[in-house]
Amino acid sequence: MEEKLTYVEWKDEYSVKIPLIDEQHQKLITLTNKLYEACVQGSDAAQEYFKEVIRETLAYVKFHFSAEERLLTSVKYPDFAVHKRQHETFVKKVVEDAKKYEEGKAVAYVFVNYLKEWILNHIAVHDKAYSEFILKLKGSGSVQG
Ligand SMILES: [Fe+2]
Repeated sequence: MEEKLTYVEWKDEYSVKIPLIDEQHQKLITLTNKLYEACVQGSDAAQEYFKEVIRETLAYVKFHFSAEERLLTSVKYPDFAVHKRQHETFVKKVVEDAKKYEEGKAVAYVFVNYLKEWILNHIAVHDKAYSEFILKLKGSGSVQG
């Protein structure tokens, strides 16, 4: 049975109403689903694939965070330092977990679950907070685009 497994589904309520950021968040969700698929399959090939996707995810997370941080700097977001610290803590944790997984000390499913929870919570609370700030600026005509 060739059924695609969807672990996290994008919902409109996740939107921060900034198209570039929404696109990147959707890509993160796609990567989480890819990891989940590999997890569920559990074969040796799937394990190799899992390692590959972890690397891909980490690279994408870093790319996305720097895009977000550039955006927040450009609008002089007041909570920038806190937001950036959250990103840094998350990257550190993912790097550590990916290493643990490579060494056979971590369980793939736990990793995927953490990823999912963190991403959704971060979007729902912290990214929404900066988007509100940015949308207000836009409303006042201080920001283009
Ligand atoms: Fe963020």
